[in-house]
Amino acid sequence: MMEWTDRHCRYFLRLLSRRTFLYTEMVTAEAVLYGDRARVLGFSPEEHPVGLQLGSSDPNKLAEAARIGADFGYDEINLNVGCPSDRVQSGRFGACLMAEPELAAECVAAMRASVPVPVTVKCRIGIDDQDAEASLDRFVATVAEAGCRTFIVHARKAWLKGLSPKENRDVPPLDYGRVHRLKASRPELEIVLNGGIESLAAAEAQLPHVNGVMLGRAAYADPYLLAEIDRTLFGSDETPPSRLEVLDVFMPYVETELAKGMRLNQMTRHILGVFHGQPRARAFRRHLAEHAHLDGAGIAVVDTARRIAHGEERRAVAAEQLTL
Ligand SMILES: Cc1cc2nc3c(=O)[nH]c(=O)nc-3n(C[C@H](O)[C@H](O)[C@H](O)COP(=O)(O)O)c2cc1C
Repeated sequence: MMEWTDRHCRYFLRLLSRRTFLYTEMVTAEAVLYGDRARVLGFSPEEHPVGLQLGSSDPNKLAEAARIGADFGYDEINLNVGCPSDRVQSGRFGACLMAEPELAAECVAAMRASVPVPVTVKCRIGIDDQDAEASLDRFVATVAEAGCRTFIVHARKAWLKGLSPKENRDVPPLDYGRVHRLKASRPELEIVLNGGIESLAAAEAQLPHVNGVMLGRAAYADPYLLAEIDRTLFGSDETPPSRLEVLDVFMPYVETELAKGMRLNQMTRHILGVFHGQPRARAFRRHLAEHAHLDGAGIAVVDTARRIAHGEERRAVAAEQLTL
């Protein structure tokens, strides 16, 4: 998710679940080809397994960007066919590629020819006035013909005119049944359902119908949701770490990144939700929000927030509550 699932976010999420597959934000092929590659593509080995999502509709550029991504060590290269933003539309990629299955297939074929890792596609069930039955079937058939075995399907249409990207994540109605029918009609493909899944129970309820579930906003707002996934969905017998344990492991990472010149809030903004639903969640968030962006803010800010969450900083908590 753009601006959200950067490398710091993924490092943090990986502390909560070892098995969940993580994805980068969408990166345009041009950014990979002409940008600062270490900044655009760099990630920590701890983040594996992690996929790189690319955006473009130029098969040659995508092939080259995919190759560079695979050389960086990404475990999968994913093509974005779901983003509805104006910028992406004017580049003729993202969701508007749903109207051009042959071009999407050409992109996938070119990417597959240049990387040893799987090439997958994230799409919608349709765009605008497309018939979500026939069009999605045709899109998937054409792209699968080019060798794509995995489709992550955001179970709502994108309306390319008149809705903002944010509205396009909420307004067009969800249609899980359409994704289930896709899986039923193409059992040999791996179909992953996305959109509006807000709990582990909701994810589990989908699994009889599809191969997997992708969580976006819920995992960001309430990352501790991921902590039970390894045990519940992947059969791990390890006890999930507590929220405080996760912070304890994240803090040395934060210190290392601070020493490289990263600002504290670039990392702490991703952990604001870790105490979601817990008694001192608000005070924890508030401490980070008020202090982590300040010049020179260091690890002590996280340490205090951690102690607030733990209930050690009672005076700090009391003071914060008075001001709420
Ligand atoms: C801030 C934000 C940024 C997003 N960026 C991307 C992106 O870069 N690539 C992508 O495929 N989807 C992106 N999405 C869409 C999500 O991946 C997901 O498809 C959508 O939010 C529906 O799933 P959810 O209800 O689980 O969040 C983004 C969503 C949000 C909220």
